[in-house]
Amino acid sequence: MASKLESLQRWVNEVAALTRPAQIHWCDGSDAEYQSLVQQMLQTGDLIELNQQTHPGCYLHRSNPSDVARVEHLTFVCTPEEEDAGPNNHWLSPADAHARMDALFEGCMEGRTMYVIPYCMGPIDSPLSRCGVEITDSPYVVANMRTMTRMGAAAQARIEREGSFVKGLHSTGELDPERRFIMHFPHELTIKSYGSGYGGNALLGKKCHALRIASSQARNEGWLAEHMLIVGIENPKGETHYIAAAFPSACGKTNLAMLIPPEGYRQEGWKVWTVGDDICWMRPGADGRLYAINPEAGFFGVAPGTSTSSNPNALETIARDTIFTNVAVTADNQPWWEGLPGKPVTDWQGRPYDPANGPAAHPNSRFTVSAKQCPTWSPKAEDAQGVPISAIVFGGRRPSLVPLVFEARDWAHGVLVGAAMGSETTAAATGAVGVLRRDSMAMKPFCGYHYGDYFAHWLSFEEQADKLPKIFHVNWFRKGKDGAFLWPGFGDNLRVLEWMIDRVEGRAEGEATPIGTVPADGELRLHDLDIAPATMDELLAVDQAGWQAELGAIGEYLDSFGGRIPARLQQEQQRVAQALARE
Ligand code: GDP
Ligand code: PGA
Ligand code: MN
Repeated sequence: MASKLESLQRWVNEVAALTRPAQIHWCDGSDAEYQSLVQQMLQTGDLIELNQQTHPGCYLHRSNPSDVARVEHLTFVCTPEEEDAGPNNHWLSPADAHARMDALFEGCMEGRTMYVIPYCMGPIDSPLSRCGVEITDSPYVVANMRTMTRMGAAAQARIEREGSFVKGLHSTGELDPERRFIMHFPHELTIKSYGSGYGGNALLGKKCHALRIASSQARNEGWLAEHMLIVGIENPKGETHYIAAAFPSACGKTNLAMLIPPEGYRQEGWKVWTVGDDICWMRPGADGRLYAINPEAGFFGVAPGTSTSSNPNALETIARDTIFTNVAVTADNQPWWEGLPGKPVTDWQGRPYDPANGPAAHPNSRFTVSAKQCPTWSPKAEDAQGVPISAIVFGGRRPSLVPLVFEARDWAHGVLVGAAMGSETTAAATGAVGVLRRDSMAMKPFCGYHYGDYFAHWLSFEEQADKLPKIFHVNWFRKGKDGAFLWPGFGDNLRVLEWMIDRVEGRAEGEATPIGTVPADGELRLHDLDIAPATMDELLAVDQAGWQAELGAIGEYLDSFGGRIPARLQQEQQRVAQALARE
C-alpha cells in the first residue's frame, strides 16, 4: 500500500483499474525525482534543453499547437442542480459528466506511467491551506506541479492526517480538441480533465482546485478564494500594507505583484514585496481584518512582454531552473519572446522563424518557476497566518471610459464595482481577443457556482468582519485617439497604489464623484513623471453620459442572473445611476 489513508488508496486503485497504466509512481517531491523526470522528458522530446551557460536548469516544452490556452467552452461545473452552477458556467449533470469522462479515461494510460501527486495549496502548516491529489499520465504536469505547489511527502502526510482532499484526475489523452473536457464536481471535491496538457487545464491545483473547487468550499466555510495577486508595499518608514488585486488573465497580475518602484521612490526607500501573482485565499481574522495566503508556490507567467523595462524582477526570477512553454529560441538556444532584445531563429512550433507565420513566441507562452527565485519574494509569503489586506483592487482592460483609479464608497459599493468589472479578452483563453466582456471579480472563468450566490457571499462579509479592506478599481489600459496607452503603467502603477494607501491611512481627501472617489488635484505624485496634464485629466475624468450608459449595461447584466441577484446589489446600481442622473 502506498498510502495508509484508505480513501486515498482506494481511489488510486479505482483509477488504475479504469486507466490501466503500466506502472504507478507516487511522487515524493524530491530533487532526485525532479531530475529523473527531466532526463526522461529530454529523451522523449517533451523537454528541449536550452542554453545551460546562460540559462542553467532551463528547458523548453512545445505543446501541441491546438493546445495552448484554457478552453472555457469545454470547462464545466457539474453541480447536482443546474441552477446552482449559474449562467456563468457550462453545466452537465454529475452522472452524465462522469459517464462521458470515464469513457475517455478507459484504458487511456495503457503502456504509460500513472503519477500520483499529493499536493498542498498554501504553506504546509497553515490552517488556511487545503490539500489535493492529482493523478496524471503527464511527466510535464508532474514537473510543473512540483514548482507550482507544495508537492510530495509532506503534503501526503497532511492529507493522511486530515483524511480529506480534492481528487483530480488528468490525462493528456490524444490532445484531440474534440475529445477535451475539464469537469468540476464541487460537491464531490473532484476534478476530471482530459485531452489537454496546458497549465490551467492540466495543473489541477491551480485554476481547477484553488479557484473553481475552492470558491465553492469557501462559500460553505465562510472565506474567499479569489483570482488575485497579493503584494506588500513598504514605505520609507518601514510600514507595509498588503494589497490584493483581481485582474483577468493576462491583464497585469504578475507584473503588479513584482513591481519595481520608479527611481524616485527607490531613492526614498520604497520597497515592494511579492506574496502571490494569481490566486488569493482570504478569511476574517480575530481582529476583524481579512487575512490572505497565496495557495501557490510558483509562478506560471505570461512570457511575451516580460522585459527589463516592464518586469526586470520576473526576468531575474526566470534566469535559471525554469520550464518555458511555447516560447521561441535564438541562434544560441536562449529562450526568446516578443519584447526581448535579440532575435528568434526558431518559432514556438519549432519552425524556422518567419514573420509571415505570426509572432515567434505564442502570445500565451508561459514560464513556470519557483516563487523562491523571485528577488522580491516576501518573507511573509510563507506565514501560516497570512497577511492582513488593506485594500482590494479590481481592474481590467478598458480602452475607454473607465478612469485610471477610483475608490468605492463602502463594501457594498465595492462589491458592485467588482461585479461590474469588464475587460477585453486576451490570448490566455482560446477564442477572439480584444472583445469587451463582463468578468465579475475576474472570476468569470473560475467561479465554481452561481454568480448571484457569489455576490451574496461577498456582501455577507460586511457582517462577518468590521475592519474590511477599502475597495478600488484601476485601469492601466486606457488608450488615446492614436491607440497608444495613456498611462505608462508597470512601475509607475506604484503612484496609484501610494494614493490608495494614503486613502487607507486617511492622508488623502480624494474628490467624490457619482462613481466613487478619484484622486484630488495633486494627490497622485507625478512630479518626476513625464506625462502631460491634459493626459492626466483624460485619465481621471468621469464622463457622465458614458457612465450613464455603462450603469444601464451593468443593470442589464445583473438582471441576467435572475432571482439570485442580491437586492442589495441592485440597490447599489440604482443609487449610482441616480447620482449620475443628478449631476
Ligand atoms: P497576468 O496574466 O494577469 O498575470 O498578466 P501579466 O502580468 O503577465 O501581464 C499580461 C500582459 O499585460 C503582458 O503583456 C504585460 O506586459 C501587460 N501589462 C502588465 N501590466 C501592464 C501595465 O501596467 N500597462 C500596460 N500597458 N501593460 C501591462
Ligand atoms: P493567468 O492564467 O493568465 O491568470 O496567469 C493562467 C492560465 O491561463 O492557466
Ligand atoms: Mn500571471
